[in-house]
Amino acid sequence: MSSNEYTTSRLTIDYRNAMASAVGDEHGVSDAELDELQGYITEQHNRIADEHSKSIQRWQDLPDNTALADEIVEFANEARQKYTDYILIGIGGSSLGAIATIQALCHPYRNLLPDDKRGGPRFFVLDNPDPEKVKATLDLVDLTKTLVNVVSKSGQTAETAANFLVVRDALVKAVGEEQAAKQIIATTDPESGILRQMSDAQGYRTFPVPPGVDGRQTVLSAVGLIPAALAGVDIHGLLAGARAMRERSLVDSVRENPAYLLAALSVLADTKHEKSMLVTMPYADGLFGVSDWFRQLWAESLGKKLSTDNTVVYAGQTPIKALGAIDQHSQVQLYTEGPNDKLIQLIAVDAYRYEVAIPEPPHEDLDYLKGAELGQLLSRERLATAWALTQAQRPNLTIHVPTIDAGIIGEFFYMMQLQTVMAGALYHVNPFGQPGVEAGKNATYALMGRAGYEELREELLAEPGDADSYINRPS
Ligand code: PA5
Repeated sequence: MSSNEYTTSRLTIDYRNAMASAVGDEHGVSDAELDELQGYITEQHNRIADEHSKSIQRWQDLPDNTALADEIVEFANEARQKYTDYILIGIGGSSLGAIATIQALCHPYRNLLPDDKRGGPRFFVLDNPDPEKVKATLDLVDLTKTLVNVVSKSGQTAETAANFLVVRDALVKAVGEEQAAKQIIATTDPESGILRQMSDAQGYRTFPVPPGVDGRQTVLSAVGLIPAALAGVDIHGLLAGARAMRERSLVDSVRENPAYLLAALSVLADTKHEKSMLVTMPYADGLFGVSDWFRQLWAESLGKKLSTDNTVVYAGQTPIKALGAIDQHSQVQLYTEGPNDKLIQLIAVDAYRYEVAIPEPPHEDLDYLKGAELGQLLSRERLATAWALTQAQRPNLTIHVPTIDAGIIGEFFYMMQLQTVMAGALYHVNPFGQPGVEAGKNATYALMGRAGYEELREELLAEPGDADSYINRPS
């Protein structure tokens, strides 16, 4: 389906098994609980719309930026001819969206395809400053034909800065300073930050991270669109899918608005039924990255100590990523018989992009697979898991998508962001900002000797507690 045709949302949520009628009053959300939230949700819906009109919820506008998408497609078309390798350097919100998109929409072994079949450069991500992975990446790429994209909203994240300095140095050694500057692009704040200053000084081409949007909300900006376009993804389709979901989510009704429904079910499950964990379990390898992207969004947005009126609440629901059917052989035993503390959202793909028929078995005990197809088996395993969970009174719901394409991924991105914003309202916390992460970032700067962090460094280096009694060392 082309991006122009993509005007209607196609995602369906079946939440029967999350309700008390399926899993009992203790574990399931009741109709009354859901309906009682309607007044508050309407109020919050109006507040969010009002904030949007005052340019606060600016992430909602990203799907409209088709002019930026045109610019990125033009850049990517040229770069796809020129480069054999592409290294994205960024972490958290600066890489997870790109990974999710490419995993969902490209060949699962894209990097291993021959050049003529792959189309565009191989894709490498340097998020962790893990020396072993960074070295391995530099061993593998042809630096003379590598495009480096450093992505940082703040422009100063230590992991990204360090990885970038290493890669830049290798690039300069391979191609010289002048050529290196042509092979580096930066995605960062249009005005401020160290990366902005460095880019301007070194002459790197830059793309903007939109101001007023947290890193984890940037997947539909240049942050996520550049890597996707370089990998050949239909980025206009992504935006169109997001717009279709935005259109569908204009209603304030908790039962009709998919994002509000998911937010309400999750928060009610947590606050009224002790489901402090939210498992996202797609039955498609291609969607595992979406559950990883969502995991960051849910955790960093909702895991907050203080409410909006500054009382201590310790809000949040621990997001867990799982993959069907693999985790049926790893996690589902725990989900079914362990503590009943999870809401499980399964993701179903109604038609996989390929059909693989199962051949005639040479053993009669495998006859039940005769004439079947792998996607059919995977779908039935999902149904079987949902049934087993429900039998064990474990609340679960299923998000159905007709197939995996750019529009559907855009729908997921938009819906899950709005779901998170509404969940923030239901928890009475501000879903924006990440003060808990900033503390760790500052401690890293202090330990690495950054100027201005001397006092914190001293505090950190004073070894706490009784090291002799409480450290277990080999004798
Ligand atoms: O959501 C966020 O803002 C964070 O997770 C950031 O994406 C992450 O910390 C990386 O920050 P930056 O893009 O500033 O390097």
